[in-house]
Amino acid sequence: MDRLRITGGRQLKGEIAISGSKNASLPLMVAALLSDQPLVLENVPRLADIDTMMQLLRKHGVEIGESPGSDGHRHGTTLELRTARIASTTAPYDIVRKMRASVLVLGALLAREGAARVSLPGGCAIGARPVDLHIAGLKAMGADIDVDGGYLVARASKGLKGARYTFPKVSVGATENLMMAAALAKGTTVLDNAAREPEIGDLANCLVAMGVPIHGIGTETLTIEGVDRLQAARHRVIPDRIETGTYAMAVAMTAGDVELVDGRLELIETAAAALRQAGVSLDATPRGLRVQRTNGALRGVDVMTEPYPGFPTDLQAQMMALMTRAEGASMITETVFESRFMHVPELARMGANVTIHHESALVRGVPKLRGAEVMATDLRASVSLAIAALAAEGTTTINRLYHLDRGYERLERKLAACGADIERVAG
Ligand code: UD1
Repeated sequence: MDRLRITGGRQLKGEIAISGSKNASLPLMVAALLSDQPLVLENVPRLADIDTMMQLLRKHGVEIGESPGSDGHRHGTTLELRTARIASTTAPYDIVRKMRASVLVLGALLAREGAARVSLPGGCAIGARPVDLHIAGLKAMGADIDVDGGYLVARASKGLKGARYTFPKVSVGATENLMMAAALAKGTTVLDNAAREPEIGDLANCLVAMGVPIHGIGTETLTIEGVDRLQAARHRVIPDRIETGTYAMAVAMTAGDVELVDGRLELIETAAAALRQAGVSLDATPRGLRVQRTNGALRGVDVMTEPYPGFPTDLQAQMMALMTRAEGASMITETVFESRFMHVPELARMGANVTIHHESALVRGVPKLRGAEVMATDLRASVSLAIAALAAEGTTTINRLYHLDRGYERLERKLAACGADIERVAG
């Protein structure tokens, strides 16, 4: 299994190209199940999770063509997906366990075929992560859903019907699942307390391009008019805001100065506000945004994760890594997922001073971190260890790199190009 070896102490300088969003690409790819016409997606990142989704979609009968991005970009793939017919309505355990987002095929398969059998998901080990909201919403649209042998077995023999559903809790995945189901349902669906993450807006815009009228994009009430058939469309995936925030924190950690090309400041406003409070400057440029920390130490700031537009849970571990070196204390509160502090014992191995109390972690800044052998436990936790390592004295080895490869395209190359002492060690 590959490892990452990082020797700290180098300032990051230069530019980093931000890839297309992983969390937008996954549901967009699933949307291809809704139509027998081609769906072309540009700016899809090259990541293990994207490969897993392709593997799953091919099992369902999706033909997928891949070509390099045609716009002179240094990254990104163009995918052409076409589902002339659904070959299978089963999403098997051996694929779904690798990636929780596989559960997104449930709504689309059910809407198009009237049946779906989807393994209960696995994915990152961050809390219980149930799928009750996906199920409740689809039931409101007329589906029968049971659990049998670890599988969700769903049926809608007369098709799905538009409904009004209010999410009792904001869920990105459940909102996406229901939006796709609603696209082929009979009549109008209104989703209240829907997630407002930019990835939801990206999916909505793509569905609109595929001929599905959707109102309220970007708000917590989405109105989706079901259609009989979706048309061919071409869509460009939005830049990855979590990758943008991650590199912004890495630059801040090393007191560097980097332009994040294609990064969009407006997608990370809450995180940017926290970083500014911590003494980091972020400014929009014609090509993206520039992150600098040129004068003074980092200051401790408090953050609390919340659904968008709040501080993203997917940047919590990285922010914590940054705060380990700040002057003063920082209280980091995680309200979206339980048990999302698995990076804390690993950061402690590097000398961080963090105390967990229920859903909050008190981070007391230390003058120095030291390189150590550490273990990646989930996707964002792994990258937080890389951020800590960039500023640690000596060498850090991060084991179990496959988590990182699920979500960061060419991380070591992007960081090395800005001066980091980082290498991937095969093994
Ligand atoms: C998505 C993102 C993930 C991000 C998360 C929150 C993708 C592929 N993944 O995950 O990176 O961390 O949003 O921004 O886009 N919940 C329930 N019942 C459900 C569904 C969710 O209780 O049926 C709970 C979850 O356990 C969690 C919270 O709702 O506590 C939010 O989860 P959700 O927004 O659904 O996250 P995902 O879509 O899985």
